[in-house]
Amino acid sequence: MRVVKPDHPLIAHKLTYLRDKRTDSPTFRRLAEELMTLLAYEATRDVRVEPFAIETPVAPTTGIKLSNPKPLVVPILRAGLGMLEGMVRLLPSAEVGFLGMQRDEATLAITTYANRLPSDLSGRQVYVLDPMLATGGSMSDAIHFLIERGADDITAVCLLAAPEGVARLEKNLAEVSPPVTLVVGAIDEKLNENGYIVPGLGDAGDRLYGLV
Ligand code: PRP
Ligand code: URA
Repeated sequence: MRVVKPDHPLIAHKLTYLRDKRTDSPTFRRLAEELMTLLAYEATRDVRVEPFAIETPVAPTTGIKLSNPKPLVVPILRAGLGMLEGMVRLLPSAEVGFLGMQRDEATLAITTYANRLPSDLSGRQVYVLDPMLATGGSMSDAIHFLIERGADDITAVCLLAAPEGVARLEKNLAEVSPPVTLVVGAIDEKLNENGYIVPGLGDAGDRLYGLV
């Protein structure tokens, strides 16, 4: 797995305010979108394109456009929804599929409770969005699910990761094809005994949408 951690002061600045417990939900939602857009710039570096002939007011020339099939963006519900707008702002013609996953707060086991994705993902570039890579269980299950459906180019985008989650993804995806890229805003110190990222930002879903 290729890990990309862009080094940019605006990423660190926005992460600082996301981490701050005084940041309210409306501000948190705006910052999560903005941070996603910055990460999307790196995540889409290898998006598939093809030549495209146009005419400027002065002369004919060749540019590029996104290839078909268009990329698929998959936010992992619920917290991944907070990143969706920030991604499709840069890739407005992408299609969007959904995976609903929840981790049990006590056992940290993952349940998949919703899936609205094309059944055949052959030839598709897929961008999976989830703000938190903690134990790595949710992202690992999501990526295996996408590979089973034929996805042949997968990029995971996370705002924050724990080293334990990155290591688990590396181990679980070592043997799989295609290779996976992880784009992440920061890799924090550790997981605590409750499976939370330290220092982290708390529960991303709750901070985006409130306690349920
Ligand atoms: C959070 C987060 C990730 C998952 C990360 O979701 O958004 O999906 O935990 O943890 P892991 O790496 O240990 O799997 P949660 O299950 O709290 O659901 P939510 O998005 O609905 O709040
Ligand atoms: N999920 C979150 O929302 N936050 C964490 O720190 C870990 C998992």
